Amino acid sequence: MRSYKIGVIKGDGIGPEIVDEAIKVLDAVSVAQGFNLKYDEFLLGGAAIDETGVPLPEETIQGVKKCDAVLFGAIGGPKWDNLERHLRPETGLLGLRKEMGTFANLRPAMVYDELVNASSLKPSVIQGVDIMVVRELTGGIYFGQPRELHEDKAFNTMVYTKEEVERIARVAFDIAMKRDKRVCSVDKANVLEVSQFWREIVEEIAKEYPEVELSHMYVDNAAMQLIRDPKQFDVILTGNIFGDILSDAASMLSGSIGLLPSASTGKGVGLYEPIHGSAPDIAGQGIANPLATISSASMMLRYALGEEEAADKIDNAIKKALAEGYRTGDLADYDAKEIVTCSEMGDIVADYASR
Ligand code: IPM
Ligand code: MN
Repeated sequence: MRSYKIGVIKGDGIGPEIVDEAIKVLDAVSVAQGFNLKYDEFLLGGAAIDETGVPLPEETIQGVKKCDAVLFGAIGGPKWDNLERHLRPETGLLGLRKEMGTFANLRPAMVYDELVNASSLKPSVIQGVDIMVVRELTGGIYFGQPRELHEDKAFNTMVYTKEEVERIARVAFDIAMKRDKRVCSVDKANVLEVSQFWREIVEEIAKEYPEVELSHMYVDNAAMQLIRDPKQFDVILTGNIFGDILSDAASMLSGSIGLLPSASTGKGVGLYEPIHGSAPDIAGQGIANPLATISSASMMLRYALGEEEAADKIDNAIKKALAEGYRTGDLADYDAKEIVTCSEMGDIVADYASR
């Protein structure tokens, strides 16, 4: 029997609730498809700080590298907000991404037909939206040196090397080849040298992909265009911080940030996580939307394990649950037939996915 080892990082806030539902669905679909999943849990973020004093324990770094893929919930919360930067939960996540070499963060933004009324934008603007944001994840201003905080000034550095831009550009072009063959590279080349550099290298890589149409857009304009006419985009290729911001904006096209998954891939083991945060304000109430995490589990099956059929089953199960009118609280106002808890949504999707 095919067997895989999944690293599980539940994290903080709603992390444990939503990851439990994703595991429920994974268990159901793996039984139905005849493969075996073993889980190994690791600490990260606030949970790790409470337990070990640091946000990224060595055990986590070593442990995840031995897995076939890692499923991750969310980290952070007010409890740890006042810690020094190197001890913050977010620093743990950034460190893990770096350690795992997951330089390519894929963040799809699609609109479920069932939820076309759930967006704050008109249905005519968003119906059929299908965007893949390819965000560079282990470089740029998030990691650039020097970075310093003083009494009278503070600074960070936005830096990209040729190799970093080349490899993320190739990821974007490869994905575009399997989609509508259009890449829009987003930068701030009218102001930043690092963006000018980015643009030139993306142009070079584009020559390897003559079938793909490449365009460039400044990030401020891209933010505006995402809201004005999101259907113009196929693949958006961008750096770390622009991708962070644009993918949050793009997520709302779908109606709720609680719907969208992400895959962080690169050198070895990939990290699969919802794009939303740990939502400490609703943690523990059982009302979080687990669909983004369940959908991330589906991406994990597809991209890390090659279990396409199982992934399709999960994707279809999510669509069916939405089509049947099941909604968690975040989507209560959108054609809901029944408001369900986080765990009930997990049950429903698990049931559909196992048929
Ligand atoms: C994300 C998050 C993280 C980021 C934070 C929690 C460090 O916002 O995954 O988008 O900025 O990358
Ligand atoms: Mn973010």
